[in-house]
Amino acid sequence: MKKIKILLTGANGQLGQCLLHLGGFSEIVDWVPTDYDELDITNREEVLNFVNSYTPDYIINCAAYTAVDQAEKEYDKALRINADGPENLAIAAKSANIPLIHISTDYVFSGQSFKPYVETDKPDPQGAYGKTKLAGEEVLLKTGGKIIIVRTSWLYSEYGKNFFLTMLRLGKDKQSIGVVADQIGSPTYAGDLATGLMKIVQYDALHEGWLSAPEIYHFCNTGVASWYDLSVAVMEIAGSTCEVKPLSTEQYPLPAPRPAYSILDTARFRNIFWPEIPYWRSSLRCCHEKYELLTHRI
Ligand SMILES: NC(=O)c1ccc[n+]([C@@H]2O[C@H](COP(=O)([O-])OP(=O)(O)OC[C@H]3O[C@@H](n4cnc5c(N)ncnc54)[C@H](OP(=O)(O)O)[C@@H]3O)[C@@H](O)[C@H]2O)c1
Repeated sequence: MKKIKILLTGANGQLGQCLLHLGGFSEIVDWVPTDYDELDITNREEVLNFVNSYTPDYIINCAAYTAVDQAEKEYDKALRINADGPENLAIAAKSANIPLIHISTDYVFSGQSFKPYVETDKPDPQGAYGKTKLAGEEVLLKTGGKIIIVRTSWLYSEYGKNFFLTMLRLGKDKQSIGVVADQIGSPTYAGDLATGLMKIVQYDALHEGWLSAPEIYHFCNTGVASWYDLSVAVMEIAGSTCEVKPLSTEQYPLPAPRPAYSILDTARFRNIFWPEIPYWRSSLRCCHEKYELLTHRI
């Protein structure tokens, strides 16, 4: 059987790493992993030439500017990576007639809702990062072609920089920490998102013609938590005695505004691709086991 060739951008990031380390797909997938050094997604000519010469069957775009606070000072740079980059990939995908799977964020919403956000809810980003990610979505919808935008939230993994790894470090170094308790969302293990993305690829490979226009889906682990809840759960799993104290958003000011309510409704994703997305606490345990293996602790 011919392998599915997937061009992966941002392969050194946490989601890119989770995709590359996903078990069970090596028989069917031939990855073309790239990060900034191999393929700068903001360079249109480079992107078009790359896609022409490697002839992938899919593009999964994990490349992004993700420094939420720094984006307030570097809006133009963030916009180039989060909007011009995806536009270049979409143009290349459209001319090759292949699907582009692009990752977006809960930060496109205001965070002032009281019920889980569905795909058709009106975006209203509050900070620079969210604005650049929304600009990326808009340019993909305008370019058209076989586009799948997957919005996710509160991503963490055993790779890169993220809240889970920060809590593990603080749990070793500190006797007590304060963590914001009045912002809620759905923590999402990047390993599960990677599985979800591969389920999209498998679905597409089996249902030719189902994707004729851009589509948006929401993906996050099931269940809801505050950052405080997530921190307490990490400490428990890691066996840390570090005390976690709840803080209000006002007590922990940051340069970029954070959504108070970040829950995404995943019914659309579950109905088509993966009915039983795991609960966040079980995925957190799974991530911790992977972390222990990675750091040779077990
Ligand atoms: N992290 C979260 O909590 C979260 C939440 C919701 C949605 N998301 C979205 O999920 C996706 C994956 O996030 P992540 O956490 O895996 O991000 P990440 O760890 O920051 O990885 C992004 C990767 O893209 C690379 N990159 C930056 N500019 C590039 C360019 N011009 N060309 C090629 N590669 C470039 C980065 O390289 P450098 O490190 O060298 O810059 C990095 O390796 C992103 O679209 C993000 O917006 C993330």
